[in-house]
Amino acid sequence: MTAAMDIPVTKATESKLKSYSFEKLVFGKDFTDHMLEADYEDGEWKNVEIKPFQPIQFLPSMAALHYGQAIFEGVKAYKNTDGEAFIFRPYDNLKRFNISAKRMQMPEVPEDIFIEGMKQLIAVDQDWIPSKPDHSLYIRPVMFATDESIGVHASNRYKFFILLSPTGPYYAAPMKIYVEETYTRAAPGGVGFAKNAGNYGGSLLAAQRAKEQGYDQVLWTDAFEHKWMQEVGTMNVFFIVDNIAVTPSLEEGTILEGVTRDSAIQVLRDMGIQLEERKINIDELIDAYKKGTFTEIFGTGTAATISRIKELRYKDFSMNFDLEKYNIAKELKQRLTDIREGKAEDVYGWMVPVE
Ligand code: COI
Repeated sequence: MTAAMDIPVTKATESKLKSYSFEKLVFGKDFTDHMLEADYEDGEWKNVEIKPFQPIQFLPSMAALHYGQAIFEGVKAYKNTDGEAFIFRPYDNLKRFNISAKRMQMPEVPEDIFIEGMKQLIAVDQDWIPSKPDHSLYIRPVMFATDESIGVHASNRYKFFILLSPTGPYYAAPMKIYVEETYTRAAPGGVGFAKNAGNYGGSLLAAQRAKEQGYDQVLWTDAFEHKWMQEVGTMNVFFIVDNIAVTPSLEEGTILEGVTRDSAIQVLRDMGIQLEERKINIDELIDAYKKGTFTEIFGTGTAATISRIKELRYKDFSMNFDLEKYNIAKELKQRLTDIREGKAEDVYGWMVPVE
């Protein structure tokens, strides 16, 4: 393993920043000048380097393409009002990354590559961190299997890389959501709690079907009854019922343990909102909607932060929400944004300085 300070850096000959516009950023489309790469071979991590953003070449027999040993993370970096760069809760992403690695029979990535490598990469490309409100530098760590063999077994070799992408608000408008009853994202014993690439590939058909019916995404339900709430699109989900915030609990292993989910739980509690992590089903939500006590529904995620939902459709029944009354989601988003953008004191110790 390479000590943190030894990561060699090869600088790009010319920065793309000179001709880059931070206006109208499209999520995940543009990348900074540099990337970090490392290889796992013979039981150890090696070849850690920061280099110009460039293609990675492999033979068509590369294992990840065939059997899906591929995991990733989403992290964000911000600049505070003094122009200093900070990463939001990267140690929590490292923890989750290694939980995903274990589930997918892949090696763990050590802190001095994941965290120190991330810090050093951002330090090299810190002029790419947007300073506009609601903008940030999205960080994408990835690991995939690189054995050039199509035998079905855990690979012996892996590639780890980190990409950086300047980004603005993810969902421009409040969302319309369809409660999914045909397709399943995760079942107990499966890989729902892991951030492996296949979970996202497997979700695309349902999302497309929802779009064809005029909805932005689906609300994933359990595999057996399609009644119990899991996640919304690529986000965790929160419901405000009777002024209590309810979010699905994690014990079945079907839900990704979101870093933004955990941040929302802590901030909501500090706002004096009662918070329940428990199972919640569609019948309870419909009853509460009919009584007028189901007042807000929103998604939480790294890319989207807090995304309000304005319509929830279950079979032929549509629940429509008054966004003007989304006081809890609004204050939660503001509090999180203020901490991330350095406008409020970071009482939780979430912001990790890049340098
Ligand atoms: C994130 O919120 O970081 C995600 O991973 C969601 C999506 C962009 C894949």
